[in-house]
Amino acid sequence: MVAEQVVVHKGLEGIHFDTTKICHIDGQKGILLYRGYNIHDLAANATYEEVCYLLLHDKLPTKQELAEFDAALKANRTLPSVVMDIIRTFKDAHPMDVLRTAVSALGCIDPDVKDMSMEANYRKAIRLTAQFPTIVAAHERIRKGLEPVSPRDDLGHAANFLWMLKGEEPDPDAARAMDLDFILHAEHSSNASAFAARVAASTLADMHSAVVAAIAALKGPLHGGAAEAVMEMVEAIGEPERAEAWVQEQLAAKKRIMGFGHRVYKTEDPRARHLRELSQVLGERYGDPKTFQILRNIEKAMEPLRAKGIYVNVDFYAGSIYHYLGIPADLYIPIFAIGRIIGWVTHIIEQFSDNRILRPLLHYVGPMEREWVPIEQRG
Ligand code: ACO
Repeated sequence: MVAEQVVVHKGLEGIHFDTTKICHIDGQKGILLYRGYNIHDLAANATYEEVCYLLLHDKLPTKQELAEFDAALKANRTLPSVVMDIIRTFKDAHPMDVLRTAVSALGCIDPDVKDMSMEANYRKAIRLTAQFPTIVAAHERIRKGLEPVSPRDDLGHAANFLWMLKGEEPDPDAARAMDLDFILHAEHSSNASAFAARVAASTLADMHSAVVAAIAALKGPLHGGAAEAVMEMVEAIGEPERAEAWVQEQLAAKKRIMGFGHRVYKTEDPRARHLRELSQVLGERYGDPKTFQILRNIEKAMEPLRAKGIYVNVDFYAGSIYHYLGIPADLYIPIFAIGRIIGWVTHIIEQFSDNRILRPLLHYVGPMEREWVPIEQRG
């Protein structure tokens, strides 16, 4: 039989599976827009709460709309006790596994569990966005043998997360660093986790199920896990002057340098600029310029790969920000998820609003029509 001639788009590279009004990326020019607004303007002027409103509602909020949205987030920060119990039960698991399990549990008891209306989905979107930081912070406290810290209504989303994580009010610079990090991670079009969310949503599964799919996809080192791997690399290198030789050794051994390369960006990821600047400022402020210097030297050693379109991505400097804020390495991916939840729920709502089940093809290359062999005759 002559094999059918098909073009296989490995990794779905270059495939548009739908249209979107959420996010635009120009990977050649290094442009990123959320709902038409440039990431550099949002990074300079917006708060995470404003970006959440913008993504969900496709417009910048008025003062009144922002106040109401902020109040809705604050009203939903506390977790049901049954979810706290689950976090206690799995306290020794990886924080991403705990987050995935807690969201799954929330999906069983959400007040709108059986309601698939758009209004209910907006309520679920706000609840999930408000609950993510509480899950991650509560787990971190519990596994350290500490009591979870209750959320504070007088603190914004980012400051309240740091408060719940550490039990002390963050200084304004730390709170703004976290806020900026959440803004930069809020949305990135059809990346693997948002795509996973849309695949689940396209079957008309509920929002919590789709978010669980997204969390699962974010966990891997080729997506959300890279920031943690970057900081392991910094530790392995140890001193700034060793960076160049270390990078050359890795490349000679055909290993990838984490925090570099991107499916879409063939120039610098526009988010990296803000994280690089923040990393330098925090490094000086917290008396640890060495981490930043090692990262800079890795970046310089990687310059020859720019000819192949390999530049730093969002994950390269993100880990150092968390490190400077005193956050343990296995929380880096959950923190990415705390920022990204708003992007996921926005994609799920967009998918629901004009749905067709996502069902691509696999080109079969195995044997055809094999002869059945009874079990007694198999060798
Ligand atoms: N270090 C060294 N070489 C690299 C890197 C890297 N980080 N990334 C890609 N390359 C090389 C590949 O070896 C390949 O070279 P070849 O053509 O000579 O074989 C070429 O660039 C193309 O690589 P692909 O794997 O085809 O690129 P793809 O678009 O499939 O992968 C990915 C993108 C997964 C991000 C990749 O660049 C990578 O593994 N990076 C490291 C992990 C990372 O930083 N992930 C975070 C991504 S951003 C995010 O998810 C938030």
